[in-house]
Amino acid sequence: MKALTMNDVDMKGKRVVMRVDVNVPIKDGVVKSDKRIRAVLPTIRKALDAGAGVILLAHLGRPTEGVFEEQFSLRPVAEHMSGLLGMPVAFCADPLNGVDCQPGQVVLCENVRFFKGEKKNSEELAAKYAAMGDVYVMDAFGAAHRAQASTEGALRKAAKAVAGPLMFAEMEAATRLLDQPKRPLYAIIGGSKVSTKLTVLENLLKQVDGLIVGGGIANTFLEAAGCSMGASLVEKDLIPEAKRLIEMAKERGVLLPLPTDVVVAPALDRGAEAVTKPVSALAADDSAFDIGPATVAEYAKILANAQTIVWNGPVGAFETAPFDKGSKAIAELLAQSQAYTLVCGGDTVAAVEAFGLAPKMGYLSTGGGAFLEVLEGKTLPAVAALADAAK
Ligand code: 3PG
Repeated sequence: MKALTMNDVDMKGKRVVMRVDVNVPIKDGVVKSDKRIRAVLPTIRKALDAGAGVILLAHLGRPTEGVFEEQFSLRPVAEHMSGLLGMPVAFCADPLNGVDCQPGQVVLCENVRFFKGEKKNSEELAAKYAAMGDVYVMDAFGAAHRAQASTEGALRKAAKAVAGPLMFAEMEAATRLLDQPKRPLYAIIGGSKVSTKLTVLENLLKQVDGLIVGGGIANTFLEAAGCSMGASLVEKDLIPEAKRLIEMAKERGVLLPLPTDVVVAPALDRGAEAVTKPVSALAADDSAFDIGPATVAEYAKILANAQTIVWNGPVGAFETAPFDKGSKAIAELLAQSQAYTLVCGGDTVAAVEAFGLAPKMGYLSTGGGAFLEVLEGKTLPAVAALADAAK
């Protein structure tokens, strides 16, 4: 990645605006998984050590612009970060009207997605962000695929735009995988919807030796393959696309195994009476919420010779027991594998952490969509803006 680094700029006595990705799960005001927060602490410390005051910009969830909603406020993140950094992290609820930040201080600003113009990459808003400080550090790898005011626009307006160490590390991990992966290379793509990952699936089919689909995505593929998935989440309008991808995999000689059994229940309730059924035997009111043990055994055989495995998206409703078993089994397969394993995506990393298997993975990315877009061979908007700023 071509970009200026924090070492290229003088930060002493300066105000450093830092775009970070601390889009973390929060429940009842408490941060549930803090990997993304911990990942940017070295960047914050680096700026503080250089004598700067640090103004943090970040997003949380997908609120409606112009509407404040408590559940999307970053205030709990400021508190959590303060504990991790061992120093106060002030919270600024109204940053567009000025941020008070002296050298040695850290201020986290309210969710940028509350401000009108963020998503549309408003030049005016981008200029305001850039003007908040002397240096603009982009270290929000997880949001680098979004061309928004704080992720791309501000980099083009800033007096000095540089990439943070997390951006460099993530881009290096992704490009290393892209350039010379050890083969066989398998991708496991889960999550609820084909619609959000259609281009990812298609582009990955051009790169991998095998593509394993799970979660709701697998339901749509199973329906496309002729199974009746009962009341399961299936995107009917994408069945033709799923058929096309199945054909494409065949033509390219890429393995695209589908689940042979699934865990079904009438509804997604904790402790629901879950029954494992072959995919050919679902009743009209059955909903599939996880892959079954026969499928796991089949996937284990396929992955046995893998040299590289990339995993994005849980293969079941892992937050609601007993539908966490499939994702746990996949995490265990990766943990035991001799392959280089790379896990990306907030939910997937959270699942691996919840299973206590994070230390056994080769690489855990803080990016989900961003990481997949690099693997697809796309240039991320923020990366392009950083490269232009380095010219
Ligand atoms: C993520 O969680 O993948 C990033 O924070 C980006 O969030 P977004 O998909 O809402 O833009």
